[in-house]
Amino acid sequence: MSSVLTVRGGVPLAGRLEVRGAKNLVPKAMVAALLGSEPSYLRNVPEIKDVDVVTNLLKLHGVDVAKEPETGDLRLDPVNAKTASTADIDAHAGDSRIPILFCGPLIHSIGEAFIPDLGGCKIGDRPIDFHLDVLRQFGAVVEKRHAGIHISAPKGLKGAKLSLPYPSVGATEQVLLTAVRAEGNTELRGAATEPEIIDLIAVLQKMGALITVQTDRTIRIEGVSELSGYTHRALPDRIEAASWASAALVTRGDIYVKGAKQTDMMTFLNTYKKVGGAFDISDDGIRFYHPGGKLSPLVLETDVHPGFMTDWQQPLVVALTQAEGVSIVHETVYENRFGFTDALVRMGANIQVHRECLGSGQCRFGQRNFLHSAVISGPAQLSGTEIDIPDLRGGFSHLIAALAATGTSTVTGIDIINRGYERFTQKLEALGADFDITSR
Ligand code: EPU
Repeated sequence: MSSVLTVRGGVPLAGRLEVRGAKNLVPKAMVAALLGSEPSYLRNVPEIKDVDVVTNLLKLHGVDVAKEPETGDLRLDPVNAKTASTADIDAHAGDSRIPILFCGPLIHSIGEAFIPDLGGCKIGDRPIDFHLDVLRQFGAVVEKRHAGIHISAPKGLKGAKLSLPYPSVGATEQVLLTAVRAEGNTELRGAATEPEIIDLIAVLQKMGALITVQTDRTIRIEGVSELSGYTHRALPDRIEAASWASAALVTRGDIYVKGAKQTDMMTFLNTYKKVGGAFDISDDGIRFYHPGGKLSPLVLETDVHPGFMTDWQQPLVVALTQAEGVSIVHETVYENRFGFTDALVRMGANIQVHRECLGSGQCRFGQRNFLHSAVISGPAQLSGTEIDIPDLRGGFSHLIAALAATGTSTVTGIDIINRGYERFTQKLEALGADFDITSR
């Protein structure tokens, strides 16, 4: 049975909600617990699907994962870590991309890892070549097997001099989780430095790791033979916070997001203000609202941190359909992240996607066949329609378009949204959205 959301649009979303630990940090901090010689404690853990997937994978590998019923805080005890059957791993990996980050920690704790073919949102090819390249340079032996890869390190993992062709978030995390207990020193050039990565480094430092981040995207790690456990409160989810901020703008609403953190969202806040959104920052969160009047178009490029996040792009594009004039958005992180605009066009938005790099310099996808620049002309009246959610962020943007549209929309595939938005239907209810959920 799957759930169907019937949304009656046109109601400004107003009220309060809370964002908890970041989807792009929490599962990785859980994997890091495998590196310790004693239990770790993780706080501010959201109820999202990636947390369930990693919990199951850790349990299969002998890690005792216990949840505080009231708070959802986790205790992760790796002392009995063991090999798991490849069939079980495959069955529990779901459509998450996190399993690839088990490589280093599993080799350190049990000598080998099996990584099933990965899932995740269909927003580009999403290869794992950077991951496998760095693992090989640490001395790992990677064998392709049916439905996945087997990785071992008969001669142990040794520190290496590494350089990434692009500042990949996942590959940087792969290096961190492998190098901290490898023999000797590791130098990583071209590293990603997203706040979620810095929070993972904070977790590893609490465990006893020695990691230095330089200003030029170089990270240095001095390997140690043993790590302890950690106690850590996950940083809040800045993607979810920005998604609700865009929802406030699109529906001409007013949303207080408890947990939203200014220092992790500075680039987003600048853009939000330029479009015509308003915000008030307080100690424990940020109020985002439409101050009245017209929204302004802009030229925007997504980029790695400290640039405008690719995951902030989709909900903001919905706001740009309501701005007076022509906006250009150049997606430079993923080659195929504008598929979600088809549904917006069916709802009445004026959006064309192009193969050229528009609005600024050339990116890796220029002169290739990728529709990675969007031209959005507004304002457009959106009308309700039938929508099948394609991916996490695109799906959220469809949802807020439906909430702003005139008439009724029928939205299927909403389980995908649970991957990154904790209890989103409860939050929508608290914000006064007019919708029903039925099962089909
Ligand atoms: N890339 C390669 N080879 C690799 C790895 C990456 O070519 O081996 C390319 C990717 O295809 C992409 C670019 O490098 O074009 C950046 O990918 P990255 O590795 O940074 O992404 P990721 O680690 O797979 C994480 C988040 C994504 C987020 C990106 C960028 C998690 C679980 N996922 O993905 O989040 O968009 O970083 O910030 O942390 C989302 O939350 O909806 C989401 C997709």
